[in-house]
Amino acid sequence: MSTLPQHPPEGTGPVRPSAAVARSARVLAAAGLGSARVEAELLAAYVLGVPRGRLALADDLSDDQLARLDDLTRRRAGREPLQHLTGRAGFRHLELLVGPGVFVPRPETELLAGWGVEQAQGRPDPLVVDLCSGSGAIALSVAQELPGARVIAVERSPAALAWLRRNAAERAAAGDRPIEVVEADVTAPDLLADLVGRVDVLLCNPPYVPDDVVVPPEVAGHDPAEAVFGGADGLAVIRPVVTRAAALLRPGGAFGVEHDDTHGAAVPALLAGHGWFTAVTEHRDLTGRPRFATASRRADGQHAPVGAAWQTDSP
Ligand SMILES: C[S@@+](CC[C@H](N)C(=O)[O-])C[C@H]1O[C@@H](n2cnc3c(N)ncnc32)[C@H](O)[C@@H]1O
Repeated sequence: MSTLPQHPPEGTGPVRPSAAVARSARVLAAAGLGSARVEAELLAAYVLGVPRGRLALADDLSDDQLARLDDLTRRRAGREPLQHLTGRAGFRHLELLVGPGVFVPRPETELLAGWGVEQAQGRPDPLVVDLCSGSGAIALSVAQELPGARVIAVERSPAALAWLRRNAAERAAAGDRPIEVVEADVTAPDLLADLVGRVDVLLCNPPYVPDDVVVPPEVAGHDPAEAVFGGADGLAVIRPVVTRAAALLRPGGAFGVEHDDTHGAAVPALLAGHGWFTAVTEHRDLTGRPRFATASRRADGQHAPVGAAWQTDSP
């Protein structure tokens, strides 16, 4: 566990935000965190109750606030996710509630959510389904950005569902069209049986890390295993989801699924080989890694035996 520098001793009076940030950043850097300065600023801003951009103008930290910042800094140095400490995770235009029991949404998933919004735009009264919804990041973003969309979020974990329902209630209270939350296993062959052939856009960020991959301490210790690991090859949830997506989507409907960066060929191949999809496209994230695959449900209603080719789209 990291030791905080003895500066200043407790009870010596208010401390400038810049000094408190520097002190916290030193501890986080010593613990090996890559973005120590940014994280220290976010923690200090949280303690002071101001946006990070207003830190320079904020009041000095009281003894109590400094003690709180020290405690949060120690916990972050011990690899508790920053978002668990502040209780919120930014995702597109939302600040979602997160904590133990729910997957912390990642910036790379914002691309899939944005793609989904684009696909739904222009369709009359679009029906959008978010499988493996977790905190509701994708579903609630679509609902916020496309007020005309009917959005259904599907999740299995009781702990995640509690966070999802809290976020859904908060967004509905803020004026977004309420989403529908369904408790279900997305690998069930009869998933959402009443929606077969009716879904316009189906999005999914499933658990996809192969079981034997060693993940960072923040993930191993704090993201639920069922949100992260996708079986021996990482495709245990993706395979049945691809099959169910083909059934649920209307002809011409759009499907997007996030995947492990080692699956930039495997997931497009699954889609292309399935027979019910066309326009299979692989997308890279902002770091250039393969991140999500998309496809269109065949509009001609004909199952094609083989569709071997796909294209790559860079952000
Ligand atoms: C990688 S997280 C994604 C959460 C959220 N969509 C996001 O992008 O931040 C995967 C989620 O899928 C849920 N999950 C895993 N297996 C599932 C299954 N068979 N049926 C339904 N949900 C499942 C997990 O509980 C977790 O919330």
